[in-house]
Amino acid sequence: PTERFTELFKSHEAAATFYQRVFALTDEGTAGREYAEERGFTPEQLHHFQIGFAPAGWENLSIFLGKKDFKESDMVQAGLLAERDQSEGVYDRFRSRLMFPIWDGQGKVVGFSGRLVGEGKPKYLNSPETPIFHKNKLLYGLHLARPAIRKSNTAVLFEGAADVVAAWGAGVDNGVATLGTAFTDEHAKLLRRNAENVVVCYDSDQAGQSAAFRSTSVLEQAGCVVSIAHMPDGLDPDDYIRKFGAERFQTDVIGATQTVMAFKMRYLRLEKNLRNEGERMVYIEEVLQELAKLPRAVERDHYLRQLADEFSLSLDVLKQEQYRLYREKK
Ligand code: GTP
Ligand code: MN
Ligand code: MN
Ligand code: MN
Ligand code: MN
Repeated sequence: PTERFTELFKSHEAAATFYQRVFALTDEGTAGREYAEERGFTPEQLHHFQIGFAPAGWENLSIFLGKKDFKESDMVQAGLLAERDQSEGVYDRFRSRLMFPIWDGQGKVVGFSGRLVGEGKPKYLNSPETPIFHKNKLLYGLHLARPAIRKSNTAVLFEGAADVVAAWGAGVDNGVATLGTAFTDEHAKLLRRNAENVVVCYDSDQAGQSAAFRSTSVLEQAGCVVSIAHMPDGLDPDDYIRKFGAERFQTDVIGATQTVMAFKMRYLRLEKNLRNEGERMVYIEEVLQELAKLPRAVERDHYLRQLADEFSLSLDVLKQEQYRLYREKK
């Protein structure tokens, strides 16, 4: 069946080569090289992830692909070129962007994620859905990280491709990321087939933490054992590594994960003022509800004690309340 898509695969391979050559060898690639240097990407990272640059201008790739006898209509279907609105012809979909090739499970390039260099929007542009590119089923970097994931029985889930690249540079080589879409059940199953444990390492801003909350439950439902890595001050992994270095990333972030319950307790209090009595009660109730879902009594007891200590509550009362919620759930 893949024979039908030969042109799609071939053109992506050709485009990846084109973007890498522009990046490495041309004057048009200067903006890309400067940007990559600014971000601290090393030659090893650029090579490992085959990062390239889509030059400014509307028909660099289209001319290149045309010379190689690719048909315009196929290239539009591939999402590499787009049709002009007002006139005949096509133009390059990706312009002035640092290009991250996206691979399928076999290591074939099936799409791109392009990070804008310079001002404008959107910050990231991905290939559209095509017959060979399905964002809901793909994890960026899985093909490269699979050996490390299998070996450690652990995958690290990041928010963005840039985080995967930065983490790899910091010695964390079992990282993958979604492509700016929600983490789906299919993503989770894909990970579960390669590892039992998943470390969720999302940006520490509000958006990242909400997304981590959602991804965690999807992962747990798929049977993954989840733990949460946390960074301070709204940083993302890439920011953190640049600021504090590889060693601290390994020990203080990846090596210092929280349990899901501890993460939920932190998350549930994010937008609450616990000095306010009403909000404090809501928080305690929410935590008890989450605790009721835990299968292990030892774990429930551990967090109940923590809650009792923090809010000077009687452990007995908490246990009664929690038992009530536990019964209700059944
Ligand atoms: P940098 O500024 O390059 O470090 O970006 P980031 O990777 O830290 O991105 P951010 O945390 O803002 O967003 C997380 C992920 O969401 C990115 O890696 C992208 O996959 C995706 N994303 C961010 N902005 C856009 C956008 O404008 N369009 C699309 N489609 N996806 C985006
Ligand atoms: Mn973010
Ligand atoms: Mn980020
Ligand atoms: Mn950012
Ligand atoms: Mn970032």
